[in-house]
Amino acid sequence: MSSLDSDDNYLVRAIRADEWPAVKALRLLALQDPVAHLAFLQTYEQAVAEPDSFWQDRAVGAAEGATGARQFVAEAPDGTWVGTVTVLVEEAGTTDWAGFPVERRQGHVVGVFVQPEHRGCGLTEVLFVEALEWAWGIGVERVRLIVHEDNGRAQRFYRRVGFLPSGVTVPLAGGSAESELEYVLERP
Ligand SMILES: CC(C)(COP(=O)(O)OP(=O)(O)OC[C@H]1O[C@@H](n2cnc3c(N)ncnc32)[C@H](O)[C@@H]1OP(=O)(O)O)[C@@H](O)C(=O)NCCC(=O)NCCS
Repeated sequence: MSSLDSDDNYLVRAIRADEWPAVKALRLLALQDPVAHLAFLQTYEQAVAEPDSFWQDRAVGAAEGATGARQFVAEAPDGTWVGTVTVLVEEAGTTDWAGFPVERRQGHVVGVFVQPEHRGCGLTEVLFVEALEWAWGIGVERVRLIVHEDNGRAQRFYRRVGFLPSGVTVPLAGGSAESELEYVLERP
């Protein structure tokens, strides 16, 4: 567990399997962010139409104790979830969501969101410290993430915590001219 300093009292921790309503609520909030169209592949309309079983499965699959993924959240002192980061584990020899081969066992950071009033204070960094500690602890060789070329704030943050562009670009679905960039952090 991590906290920023004694004045902030955020709690950063893995989710529990029964916390799917909060997982859903935070995701729906993230999908209403002004940059959601750059930040997330799913739309608010798609997410809100998902049945409870979707959120239940998602929470179970990324909760404390699950091996294929882990979702971390930042809890404010009043218990509100104000930020989240999820690490998916990609096994060597498999194919990723875009159809490309995965050559090394790696973490893939997705679903990065911090509520606007909690940005720029170091909280996102604490979330990443927890998420990366978990990823290195399970032995992945590197951690990657995909960020939209126009999402300047996210890219700047990722560079600050050590991620660098790998040179790999991922075209957006639907024949769009826009693309996303792969950023990678090698195991220290
Ligand atoms: C991405 C996100 C998690 C980053 O967390 P954060 O707390 O905002 O990050 P920080 O403020 O610590 O760092 C952002 C950096 O970008 C800079 N920045 C702020 N606004 C910016 C902008 N419009 N363009 C470029 N850089 C910007 C900040 O000054 C800071 O730079 P610094 O490290 O040199 O000080 C958060 O902004 C967020 O939730 N955004 C919406 C969802 C999203 O984009 N998720 C990422 C999907 S890949």
